[in-house]
Amino acid sequence: MKKIVFYAMMLIVAVAISITACTKNDGATTGTKKVIRVTTKFVDNEQTAKSLVKVVEGVNSRSNGTLELQLFTSGTYPYGKDGMELIVNGGDVIQVDGINFIADYVPDFDAVTGPFLYTSFDEYLAMTKSDLVAALKQEAVEKHGIRILSLDWVFGFRSMMLKKPVKTPDDMRGLKIRVPTSPLYTYTLEAMGANPIAMPYPDTYSAIQQGVIDGVEGSILTYWGTKQYENVKEYSLTRHLLGVSAVTISEKCWQSLTAEQQQILTEEFQKGTDDNLKETIALEDDYAENLKEQGVHFYEIDAPAFAAKAAVVYTKFPKWTAGIYDQIQAELTKIRATLKK
Ligand code: G3P
Repeated sequence: MKKIVFYAMMLIVAVAISITACTKNDGATTGTKKVIRVTTKFVDNEQTAKSLVKVVEGVNSRSNGTLELQLFTSGTYPYGKDGMELIVNGGDVIQVDGINFIADYVPDFDAVTGPFLYTSFDEYLAMTKSDLVAALKQEAVEKHGIRILSLDWVFGFRSMMLKKPVKTPDDMRGLKIRVPTSPLYTYTLEAMGANPIAMPYPDTYSAIQQGVIDGVEGSILTYWGTKQYENVKEYSLTRHLLGVSAVTISEKCWQSLTAEQQQILTEEFQKGTDDNLKETIALEDDYAENLKEQGVHFYEIDAPAFAAKAAVVYTKFPKWTAGIYDQIQAELTKIRATLKK
């Protein structure tokens, strides 16, 4: 009899526990662990990947086993266009990659990250806080299910890592230069005088060695982090586009989380953004020195000539909102005035 009472009590406890575990909290099921894959092209040796490791550790340790982020670096999980498709289709995915992949859905994002717009990280960072960009973020989530957690994972201005130096647009003629798979990049490099070849970054190391391309455009952090100095030694400082990643998550995945899980993600990614920015600023000079020690030469270029050539890019996108370029310039004027103070 005692045994029956004991088993009955155990059953009641078990049912109570399972009811608690399955109870919805702010719309999401707790009790089962939610696994979210974090995908990026950056290799482990790059700062973005290093800051992401900290984000993942922070989220996983704070969420008491209810949430697990799994990090896939170096393009070992679908990324870029494919990663963004997973997000749009509601996958349990966070992508850290170029803003151009959001622009495939909200075209004006290409306009706010266009060539020769910014002269400092601060100008760009201020732009991401503008009403103009807030409206684009809203469009991304409402129309396409792309929730943008950050637009601020900067990794440096992009310049030319090539087999030969380029100082003027004429020097670019005939050069096959890899660009990310994005019309913004293709148009920009074309306008600057080169022959752009779109391919995922992880393919570039062997593409240079096989002579498929003459080099790539990218930041000092990319140059050092991906060991491209082993292939090409001439770095011409065009600074034509800002290297910056967005952190995006599918809205469906986001809404399946509890308010607490959302808060943890928001806070840890903000810490990661700050960490990445601080380290990027600190590392740029160090890495430039490292590159010089590896035999890399740095060149200043005819910036006004390149910028004049690239101006045509702003006329190439029929899907951009009419007048967006003027709006961006007006915003930039305000930003520059504020930053001067
Ligand atoms: O690891 C690659 C990263 O540093 C740059 O990639 O595609 O923006 O040129 P991407």
